[in-house]
This record gives sequence, structure tokens and C-alpha cells, in this order.
Amino acid sequence: MKIAISGKGGVGKTTLAGTLARLFARDGYNVLAVDVDPSMNLGSALGIKQLPKPVTEHKDLVQERAGMPMGMFKMNPKVDDVVQMCGCTGPDNVKLVVMGTIDSGGSGCMCPANAFAKALIRHVITREKDLVILDMEAGIEHLGRATARGVDAMIAVVEPGMRSIETVERIMQLGKEIGITRYFAVINKADNPGPVAEKMAQMGISVLGTIPFDKCLVEADLAGVPPIDANCPAVDAIKKIKDKLEEMFGEKEAKQA
Ligand SMILES: Nc1ncnc2c1ncn2[C@@H]1O[C@H](COP(=O)(O)OP(=O)(O)O)[C@@H](O)[C@H]1O
Ligand SMILES: [Mg+2]
Repeated sequence: MKIAISGKGGVGKTTLAGTLARLFARDGYNVLAVDVDPSMNLGSALGIKQLPKPVTEHKDLVQERAGMPMGMFKMNPKVDDVVQMCGCTGPDNVKLVVMGTIDSGGSGCMCPANAFAKALIRHVITREKDLVILDMEAGIEHLGRATARGVDAMIAVVEPGMRSIETVERIMQLGKEIGITRYFAVINKADNPGPVAEKMAQMGISVLGTIPFDKCLVEADLAGVPPIDANCPAVDAIKKIKDKLEEMFGEKEAKQA
């Protein structure tokens, strides 16, 4: 199962990504969590204290695999061993890879590090057997067409607020251009999800679940404890989302033994 999570900054992407990763892992899945957000805090939501060095900062490796003379680069560098080399394993055996800063195009920079990161994302989505969860920012343009086809669910996290809804619209627009069709929304920080759910329905996005506003998450975040280890009530809502994903896209063979 391949899940990508996006949405406006601060809506709860990392909280959802980290908690889903731990829940799936506890249920026996081999889980690979990939931090594609430049703010790089998926590790703390997973409970990993010693973060691996971001992939794009392995300069020698990137140059060796993707670099070519005169500032040229390879579009298809070898990356099949990179998770092993640049990742780490945390609680419940969740593997984490931190991508580091990827230039999403606007500046026109297309350098070996970008090509390397994109190839790695494509690899984990299209080749890895593991259950993969990508914690992304709102810009999903690092997903090329081939990668997009491999994503089972693109989950947009949305909170009650117009800006966050507009971000979902933008994500859908971008996604359409690269062929993503399976959109879902998770409504977060919502004690009254009705109005947002209505907007999602108008946009043709099916809502996977709702997570209420939970003070425990704020406190756990401040204390540096992952939501799942703080036993926050919101984790129960995320469990239901996990069950729904499993119902729709479960691959039992991806489980360990
Ligand atoms: N349902 C919720 N109730 C209360 N606080 C939440 C909830 N979901 C997330 N938060 C808090 O909001 C902040 C941003 O969450 P985070 O997952 O880091 O967002 P993002 O990854 O989208 O930027 C964190 O402090 C987190 O603890
Ligand atoms: Mg985040």
C-alpha cells in the first residue's frame, strides 16, 4: 500500500503520517516512512530521536550516482540500496528515510540532488514491497507520472479553514496534471466537520475520516512524545482511518511472516 499525505502547513500531516506508520507497523506491516517535507519532523512524530542524515545531504553518494561532468546529471541513478544506506529504524520497526531539501522546480534548478531524490521517491513507490507513507508538503510536483500511478491514496489533510481548503484544491489541480486520481481527505482539528465535509463533497473528494481537536496532541508535541506513545484520544480516530485504508488497499502479503 502506498500512501501520500499532503496539505497546507500545520494542518496535521506529520501527526497523521507518523501515527498511521506506527499503527500499521504494530499490525505487522513492514512500514517505510519517507519525510519529503523540508521541515523534516516526521522522525519526532515516529519517536525517532537520532534522525538519519537527509538523503540529499549525502553529497558524495548523490554525485557518484547522479552526477555527470559539466553540471549534467542522470535521470535514473541507481537508488535501490539507498533506503538501506540512508535510513534508520525506530519504534515498532518503522523505517524512516528523510529526503532533505528538494527544489520543486520553481527556481529552475534541476541538479543531481533533485534527480536523485525524485528517483528515490519513484523507487519506493513503484518497487518497494513495504507499506510506504510519504509525508509531503503541499507541493506534490516531485511526483512524476510514473510515481503518481503507483500511489494508492493521496490523502489531503484539511482543517476547518478556507486556506486549507484552497490548498486542497491546488493539490488536486497539480495532481490532475500528473495523473493522480485517488484523492481522499482527512478532516483534522474539527469538532464540527460538517461544513468542511460538504466542501469536500462538492470537490468530489471522499472523506476517509475526521480527527477531533485534541489538546493531548498539543501537549505531546510540546513534550516531544509521539501521539501514539502519549495515548492521545485522537489516535483512536486515526485507527479508524487506518482500518479504512486497509479495507480498501490492504495487501496481506506485505505483512511480515
Ligand atoms: N487534531 C489535532 N488537535 C490538536 N492539535 C493538533 C491536531 N493535529 C495536529 N495538531 C497539532 O498541530 C501542530 C501541527 O501538526 P503537524 O502534524 O506538524 O502539521 P503539518 O505536518 O501538516 O505541518 C502540531 O503541534 C500538532 O500537535
Ligand atoms: Mg509536517
